[in-house]
Amino acid sequence: MGTGVKLGVLASGSGTNLQAIIDAGLPVAVVVTDRPGVAALDRAAGAGIPPAVVDRSQHLPDRVAFTDAIIGALRAHDVDLVAMAGFMTVLAEPMFAAFPDKVINTHPSLLPSFRGAHAVAEALAAGVRVTGCTIHIATVEVDDGPILAQEAVPVLPDDTVETLHERIKTVERRLYPAVLHELIEKEHSAAGAVVL
Ligand code: GRF
Repeated sequence: MGTGVKLGVLASGSGTNLQAIIDAGLPVAVVVTDRPGVAALDRAAGAGIPPAVVDRSQHLPDRVAFTDAIIGALRAHDVDLVAMAGFMTVLAEPMFAAFPDKVINTHPSLLPSFRGAHAVAEALAAGVRVTGCTIHIATVEVDDGPILAQEAVPVLPDDTVETLHERIKTVERRLYPAVLHELIEKEHSAAGAVVL
């Protein structure tokens, strides 16, 4: 994708959404993780994408210092748009001032139901027959902000948290790159707009 728009991806874990973003050919300029030794870093290395580790254990409980370090890592790569893909540290307000309306998140539930880190377990415990995923603009309120796309996923009778989460992630890996692709195209058109 040769738009000149640069995407930064924030990840903490296995990075299968990151991989889908990479495989979709989106312009990932940097992969930032909040801890060392995670698979997301291997995926970045495999794709020749620069990594940056901002180790939360070195910063927390100072969430603003942690957030400033994340912003620094993204700015160092001239990032225009930020995709959180399984990023498990809450970011402070400066992030959303630095990248207004440019921080995107994917969450494994149909928001506003089941916010937070245990969305899949909570949906299962609640006995809902349908859950899903939500792609939204991230704001300082966790798992809040304008919804860009949602897709429903059925809960099956024998589901465990793992099987249900994997069914949801299969959808996320298709939907998230598609939404990001659209946003990058928009960003590109906006940057190219001529004001007369
Ligand atoms: C996804 O379900 C995402 O919505 C949630 O964490 C999971 C990340 O999975 N926040 P992966 O690391 O991309 O495999």
